[in-house]
Amino acid sequence: MQEEKMLLGVNIDHVATIRQARYRDAGRVCGGVVEPDPLAWALAAERAGADGITVHLREDRRHMQEEDIRRLRASIATRLNLEMACSEAVLAVALDVVPDFACIVPENRAEVTTEGGLDVAGQTARVASFVERLGNAGVIVSLFIDPDEAQVRAAAAVNAPFIELHTGAFSNAWHKPVAREAELARLSAAVKLARNLGLTVNAGHGINYVNIADITALDGLHELNIGHSIVSRALFTGVDEAVRRMKALMNGAA
Ligand code: PXP
Repeated sequence: MQEEKMLLGVNIDHVATIRQARYRDAGRVCGGVVEPDPLAWALAAERAGADGITVHLREDRRHMQEEDIRRLRASIATRLNLEMACSEAVLAVALDVVPDFACIVPENRAEVTTEGGLDVAGQTARVASFVERLGNAGVIVSLFIDPDEAQVRAAAAVNAPFIELHTGAFSNAWHKPVAREAELARLSAAVKLARNLGLTVNAGHGINYVNIADITALDGLHELNIGHSIVSRALFTGVDEAVRRMKALMNGAA
């Protein structure tokens, strides 16, 4: 069990995914019949206890649009965490919007969602330049990496204050007990190493209402970024119950 309460960042990309499925060509992101509105959803998540709102401005703009990011920046009361590729075009938006946090992720147009961690070790100069330019603008930078020793050390070497450990391999192994235990052990070792190197450690991808029990048992995590499971549950229960339930589970509820 965690010594301190873990924070919850709610990823609302899939709210925009649903909107884009119908209103991609609307020329506007909200108003009239255009729905659902990610900002309205974010405000409801905040009222239910979300500690931050996370959005990914993908280069192909498949869900969040630039206007969404600006509306969120202007209106949310918690912290805006912008997931972004190592791309100069998205960096220009980030430096203009100035989110509280930026999480640098790898991006591949063919993927359904972010599939692997950022290869920091293989492109240290490039990543260091993004960390520096965002940091100079007052944005706290996190690097989304696999729970591998080389990547954790590289994240520390490029002066990122935060990392977000990719929990996808753990989550995907839900039906394979041996692999699942091995992935949990990898995560645990990565959290320890990162904290020893002075990094603040977040985690995310594929975390749901069932596997959260194992994630909360990993000591030393600061914040979880959770999207798909919360948005999916909200279709049945509404946003309020979906967010409240996840926060309760994160903080020890049975
Ligand atoms: N963290 C990062 C960096 C991500 O790219 C994603 C997926 O968009 C998430 C967290 C949330 O993953 P999920 O939607 O599976 O909860």
